[in-house]
Amino acid sequence: MCPPAAAVFAVLTACVACAPGRGQQLNYRPIIGVLAQENLPGDQSAPAPSYIAASYVKYLEGAGARVVPIRINRTEEEYTKIFYSINGLLLPGGDVDIQTSQFSRAARIFYNLALKANDAGDFFPIWGTCQGFQQLSVLTANKNLLTLTDTKSVALPLTFTAAANSSRLFQSFPKDLMQSLSEENITANFHSWSLSVQNYTRNYKLKKFYRVLSTNNDGVKEFISTMEAKHFPFYAVQWHPEKSPFEWIDKPGMVHTTSAVRASFYTASFFVSEGNVTHTLMTYHMF
Ligand SMILES: *[C@@H]1O[C@H](CO)[C@@H](O)[C@H](O)[C@H]1NC(C)=O
Ligand SMILES: *[C@@H]1O[C@H](CO)[C@@H](O)[C@H](O)[C@H]1NC(C)=O
Ligand SMILES: *[C@@H]1O[C@H](CO)[C@@H](O)[C@H](O)[C@H]1NC(C)=O
Ligand SMILES: *[C@@H]1O[C@H](CO)[C@@H](O)[C@H](O)[C@H]1NC(C)=O
Ligand SMILES: *[C@@H]1O[C@H](CO)[C@@H](O)[C@H](O)[C@H]1NC(C)=O
Repeated sequence: MCPPAAAVFAVLTACVACAPGRGQQLNYRPIIGVLAQENLPGDQSAPAPSYIAASYVKYLEGAGARVVPIRINRTEEEYTKIFYSINGLLLPGGDVDIQTSQFSRAARIFYNLALKANDAGDFFPIWGTCQGFQQLSVLTANKNLLTLTDTKSVALPLTFTAAANSSRLFQSFPKDLMQSLSEENITANFHSWSLSVQNYTRNYKLKKFYRVLSTNNDGVKEFISTMEAKHFPFYAVQWHPEKSPFEWIDKPGMVHTTSAVRASFYTASFFVSEGNVTHTLMTYHMF
């Protein structure tokens, strides 16, 4: 669906015991978990059966978060323990089955824990990128409503909806950046599947749960490129903000312009600040 361009992120050990230097006050939050996934089929050279693309780690760290890997194939008990040790979750892009993979199994466990926690006033944000976007749509709708689009390797400008300016995600973006996002081809699209506006609109669960912030068009179908949950701190982008600053494969759709890199940072910074929300302070479901 949206394979990562390169490097494998191996193991990251959170240095909880590291003391700050004398007189310094280090803030250790937020800690964001990034979910691993099964390797691409046929990748014989892979050193391990699963991976996390390095760009997602750099993306979050570049905005001030600490990142921990969440491995696949773990017990529900282990995931629950991790859930209560982190401040947010990122579901990355990739190419696994979003209904049967170990990635999708872990995503479902965290999603259900996050629904419950947020409902109880315990703030827990989730970010989905590309495959992560698609995974969230499947978890919310409880079925796969995706459709094939011609969007495999193309940079597009976002078509913002009327809800974008006042959305949680975009409301603090600088005006000139919103203009760049809407006029320049700076969002990297590497997906074969999309959630069409038509299927979103026809599905009661999706329509009730998410607010559409931007759409795009492959020339035939209009699909959702950015959305946020109405009553939960869940965010989903079909495009790849992490690629612009951190991936260097030379192919159509990759963008390294200043505005693309800025857009990347603003999305990461927004999500990291969500991870830093003190748990009992905010509950979106009460809006
Ligand atoms: C997950 O478990 C299955 C079966 O137990 C195994 O075949 C597979 O290699 C494991 N994958 C990872 C990433 O550990
Ligand atoms: C997280 O919150 C702490 C405490 O309020 C603050 O000092 C820090 O700057 C915040 N960090 C980020 C990355 O938002
Ligand atoms: C709507 O979802 C179905 C799967 O339930 C899919 O087969 C179909 O192509 C989708 N249609 C559009 C227009 O997205
Ligand atoms: C720029 O985006 C438009 C859609 O608004 C698309 O038709 C075009 O192919 C894109 N150009 C490039 C170079 O990606
Ligand atoms: C968002 O606000 C800007 C002005 O700040 C305006 O130019 C733009 O049209 C608005 N976008 C939408 C989709 O309403």
